[in-house]
Amino acid sequence: MLSNKNIVLGVSGGIAVYKALDVVSRLRKLKANVNVIMTKAAAEFVSPLSFQSLSQNYVVTDMFDEPKTWDVEHIALAQKADLFVIAPATANIIGKIAGGIADDMLSTTVMATRAPVLIAPAMNTNMYTNPVLQRNIKTLKDLGYKFIEPASGRLACGDYGVGKLATPEDIVEGILSFFKVPSVKTLRDKKILITAGPTQEPIDPVRYITNHSSGKMGYSIAKSARERGAEVTLISGPTSLEKPCGVEVIDIITAEDMHRAVLEHFENSDIIIKAAAVADYKPKEVSKDKIKKRDSDLSIELTRNPDILLELGRMKKDKILVGFAAETKELLESAKSKVHRKNLDFIVANNITLDGAGFKGDTNIISIIDGFGKIQKYDKMKKEDISNIILDKIYELIKLKE
Ligand code: CTP
Repeated sequence: MLSNKNIVLGVSGGIAVYKALDVVSRLRKLKANVNVIMTKAAAEFVSPLSFQSLSQNYVVTDMFDEPKTWDVEHIALAQKADLFVIAPATANIIGKIAGGIADDMLSTTVMATRAPVLIAPAMNTNMYTNPVLQRNIKTLKDLGYKFIEPASGRLACGDYGVGKLATPEDIVEGILSFFKVPSVKTLRDKKILITAGPTQEPIDPVRYITNHSSGKMGYSIAKSARERGAEVTLISGPTSLEKPCGVEVIDIITAEDMHRAVLEHFENSDIIIKAAAVADYKPKEVSKDKIKKRDSDLSIELTRNPDILLELGRMKKDKILVGFAAETKELLESAKSKVHRKNLDFIVANNITLDGAGFKGDTNIISIIDGFGKIQKYDKMKKEDISNIILDKIYELIKLKE
């Protein structure tokens, strides 16, 4: 899957160095060529020989080592890289790159490369949340460096919090998605039902009530799920988007139509993702004729539409059920209560008032809240990347249930 790809892996010093061995081993299985550069501190934790044996390439640790070729080594590796990965990345190496310091083999090669750089930080929570480090990360992100966010949990030092190196599986996933190679977190043979877009609730033959949903999020999830081998049914409100290839698309107009179509497909689905922005209310009466203007005000009486997701939650059994919550205030409280009320595995919540978030654009800023109340917040990212986060989370849930 990664044949002909040259990946230079920078390993900086920390207890998580041993996990980088697993990253090398996974990349080799995917046929990538891997060259490892270790800092001196990293070599204190794990011997370069281990990386050498797994990568089957000479491991560079010192600028002034006896050269193994006639090339200037840091320049040769910098030029050779299709992708430069640093995992684990300490606060020190992140600070050096952000500050333009090149004083050892790793920092010098990063400075000399034109390849994209993917950084997986690992450190103590207080170091990770230190504003100096966060400023350095932001500087690098603004310059186009990519990050694989650290996980939360018990750290080697005994503290709990954010700062654990992402799992080798997630690091390799980040690399695969960089090369646009389909995920190894496959959803093959899974039947996924996705809803997307707005609904339109007619008032009369020319008017309707709707919302700003573009359908982009649901369509993006459908496309990514298909790429992972799932059998995908997409129930879509009116949108102007191109239908994703290989996906069964059922077009609907109203919330009632969506309700019917979802119930029809529910039993036969393993996973249901409700990304649609369903109208909670519809006009009580739909006028047969166009409503003519008068001198007086006009009121339209509205009546409730069914809450489809609430109903699915009651019939859920062992299916995986994912909801969305678009909020303008009290995002987390409101989303948390929806997870419980609608019996969801998790909810993807976003504050639509933030810049770069919401319905129409290609990006969003989300938090994921699961049934245990665990909250994971994400920076602004493309809807395509959010789809992969959602599908990865579903993959983990499937693995847990197996
Ligand atoms: N939803 C649904 N049927 C409805 C309304 C919403 O299936 N009639 C689903 C949406 O697809 C979404 C989730 O419920 O996945 C949350 O939608 P949202 O409108 O944010 O929440 P509501 O439950 O309608 O709550 P409120 O309007 O009070 O925010």
